[in-house]
Amino acid sequence: MRVISTVADMRQARQQMAGPPWRIGLVPTMGALHEGHLSLVRGARADDDTVVVSIFVNPTQFGPSEDYALYPRDPERDLALLRDLGTDLVFMPSAEEMYPKGFDTHVEVEKLTQRLEGASRPGHLRGVATVVTKLFNVVQPHRAYFGQKDAQQLAVIRRLTRDLDLPIEVVGLPTVREPDGLAMSSRNAYLSPEERKAALVLYRSLEAAQELWRSGVRDASLIRRRINEMLAAPATGGLARVDYVSVADAETLEELETVDRPALVSVAVRIGKTRLIDNVTLSP
Ligand code: PAJ
Repeated sequence: MRVISTVADMRQARQQMAGPPWRIGLVPTMGALHEGHLSLVRGARADDDTVVVSIFVNPTQFGPSEDYALYPRDPERDLALLRDLGTDLVFMPSAEEMYPKGFDTHVEVEKLTQRLEGASRPGHLRGVATVVTKLFNVVQPHRAYFGQKDAQQLAVIRRLTRDLDLPIEVVGLPTVREPDGLAMSSRNAYLSPEERKAALVLYRSLEAAQELWRSGVRDASLIRRRINEMLAAPATGGLARVDYVSVADAETLEELETVDRPALVSVAVRIGKTRLIDNVTLSP
């Protein structure tokens, strides 16, 4: 497994990879790898000839009061996990390498980023779109793998790939959960044991939404109300503070009145100081 830290070396390595029908798969990550990330790497390993994983804690997608400095970093452990999965190459640039002095260009996906994470974390999705476009240009993969866990991010990346005519197939893979249902996230490491228990309410509330939908409820406001009730329940010990609850068109992310098409049900909740997100899809 090669570990590369500069754009120039990455480009050179890319040029030395075989041409078609040889397929290159890219899994972009910010490290602190868990089973969610590893499922993407396994997906790439199963389908592609060369597997490239990037590890880069991208400063431009963190707001000024967010956890960039504190974000968990453990490159040695990450590299060992990736080696075990048969990763061919790890691209691990520094912030200066990706954003040299004078950097001044960004990728903005306009409408899709106005709601949900875009509304709660101004600039976050612009930072994601910009770094993913750069990674696509540097690595030039045929396929790139992302988790449904970050559903809006996935939608934004699909959109920019289409809009900018990037010759890359974007593959979305299901959310990997802990045995009790909590979606895996690098930020789960911030939770105290008490908060970890309370955090279960995210998935529980989404399961309740799925149950309502299965029982025939199509009124989106009823589904949102049920989720809000669960998030406010005493079982969370008052630890959960709702950021948003959304039942939206799965493609445009516009809020629905009636669930008459595939819908993305998503929540963002603060548990203590940690902001967690999760989602499920309702579709016939
Ligand atoms: P990061 O949070 O490290 O996640 C990297 C990839 O793993 C993303 O595609 C994310 O959706 C996926 N992922 C995270 N938790 C998952 C889970 N429980 N199940 C399945 N997939 C999961 O997302 C980012 O990094 C960054 O925004 C990035 C795309 C790398 C751009 O900087």
